[in-house]
Amino acid sequence: MAFLWEGRFSSGPAESMEELDRSIAVDGRLWREDIEGSIAHAGMLGRRGIIPEADAARLVAELQKLSGELERGEVPIDPKAEDIHTFVEAVLTSRLGELGKRLHAGRSRNDQIALDERLWLRKSIAVLVRLLEETRVALEKRAVEHADTLMPGYTHLQHAQPVTLDTVLLAWSAMLARDAGRLADAAKRMDTCPLGAGALAGTGLPIDPADTARALGFARPVQNTIDAVADRDYVAETIAAIAILMSHLSRMCEDVVLWCSSEFGFAEPSEGYSTGSSMMPQKKNPDAAELIRGKTGRVYGDLAAILTVMKGIPFSYDRDLQEDKEPLFDAVDTASLCLRVFSGMMETMAFRPERMRAAAEDGFMNATDLAEYLVGKGLPFRDAHAAAAKAVRHCIETGKRIEYLTLSDLKGFSPAFEADVVGTLSMAECVRRRKIKPE
Ligand code: ARG
Repeated sequence: MAFLWEGRFSSGPAESMEELDRSIAVDGRLWREDIEGSIAHAGMLGRRGIIPEADAARLVAELQKLSGELERGEVPIDPKAEDIHTFVEAVLTSRLGELGKRLHAGRSRNDQIALDERLWLRKSIAVLVRLLEETRVALEKRAVEHADTLMPGYTHLQHAQPVTLDTVLLAWSAMLARDAGRLADAAKRMDTCPLGAGALAGTGLPIDPADTARALGFARPVQNTIDAVADRDYVAETIAAIAILMSHLSRMCEDVVLWCSSEFGFAEPSEGYSTGSSMMPQKKNPDAAELIRGKTGRVYGDLAAILTVMKGIPFSYDRDLQEDKEPLFDAVDTASLCLRVFSGMMETMAFRPERMRAAAEDGFMNATDLAEYLVGKGLPFRDAHAAAAKAVRHCIETGKRIEYLTLSDLKGFSPAFEADVVGTLSMAECVRRRKIKPE
C-alpha cells in the first residue's frame, strides 16, 4: 500500500515503524463517516469551482458506490492501508485514476479525522442516550410493581429508615437521566465542523467551510483552524460522561450483588443474567452485575488514557492524537454493552418482597419516627432524639421492638407520649407518613 506522503521520501518506513504508524485496525470502523465527509468535501470542491462540477459528481457517485459495497461486505478494508483516509483515497484512485487524486484538495487528514470522530460520536451518543432511556423505562416498570415493597433503607450499609423498593429503583433512574443529559450536552458542544482547517492553518484554495458544515448537518464550522485540529475535548468529555455513567452502573451492581447474597436474599438474577460454577454444582452467581462493576475500572482507564495523551501536546496537531480512538471506542462499546445487560438483568430480576419486609422489621428503623412523634408533641428535636434513644436501648436490652412497646413503656421515656402513638410506628406507617415518593 502506497503512502499518501511518500513523495518526500526515497525509501519506506522500517517494519516496526510501519506497524506503529498504522491505525487502520482501529480507525477502519470510521469508514462510513470518512466517506460521508469526503462526499461533502467533493461536493463543495465542485460548487466552488475548485474542481469541475462533473468531476465532483463522479467522485461523489464513486464514494456512494464504495459505501454500499463496504456496507454489503463486497469490498474488504485493506489491513495494510495506513489508515481509513488512505484506504478510501486509494480505492478511489484505483477506480477513477487521476480524478481520485483530486479529492484531497484543501483538506488534510488532520481536519478529516477530527470530522470523522465527531460524525461517529454524534451517532454513538444518540445510541447511548437511547439505551439509557430504555434502561430507565425498565427500572421504572419494576418500580411501579414494587411501590409498596418495604425494605430497609441504608446509610453506612446499616439499617437506617424503612423505604420502599421503588424509591431505590427510581433513584437509580434519576442518576441515569443525568448521564443522558451529560452526553447530550457533550454532543451539543461538539456540533461544529472542523473541515476547512486543513493541517492547521486552513488553505489558500477558495473552499467554503460553511457549505460543508451545512451539508454534514453541523450547526456551524469551527472558527479557529488550530483549535479545529488540536481539540479533543469532545473525546475527553464523552469518555468522562461515560465514566460517570459507569460509576453509577457499578454502584447499582454492587447493590444487586449484595441483594443476591444468601445473607440479604432480597433478589435473584434470572438465568439469562447469571452463571454457574465449574466446580460447585449449587452455584448461581450474579456475574452480570460483577462484570459491569469490573468493566467500570476499564472505562476509568480509558479516561485516564485520553487525559494523559492530551496533557503535554504542543499546538496544534501531533501524532499522539491518533491514540484517542482506542479509549473512545472502548468506552462507548463497553457502556453500550453494559447498559444492555444491566437493563435486561433488572427487567428479569426476581425480587423477594417477603425477605425485604422481614429485614425491614430489624434494626429499629422507626426510631427517627418515634423522635418525630415527640417533636409533633412540642419537644425540641434534641430532647426527642434522646428519649427515642432511651427507648432503643431498652429494646436492645429486652429484645423488644419499638412498635410493640406499650403506651406505659413509652411514657417511661417521655411523658409526652399519648394514646395516639399507638399504631403509628409500624414500618409501613413510617414510610407512608414520609414524603419520599418521587413525583
Ligand atoms: N490517523 C491519524 C489520527 O488518527 C490521522 C491524521 C494523520 N495526520 C498526520 N499528519 N499524520 O490522528
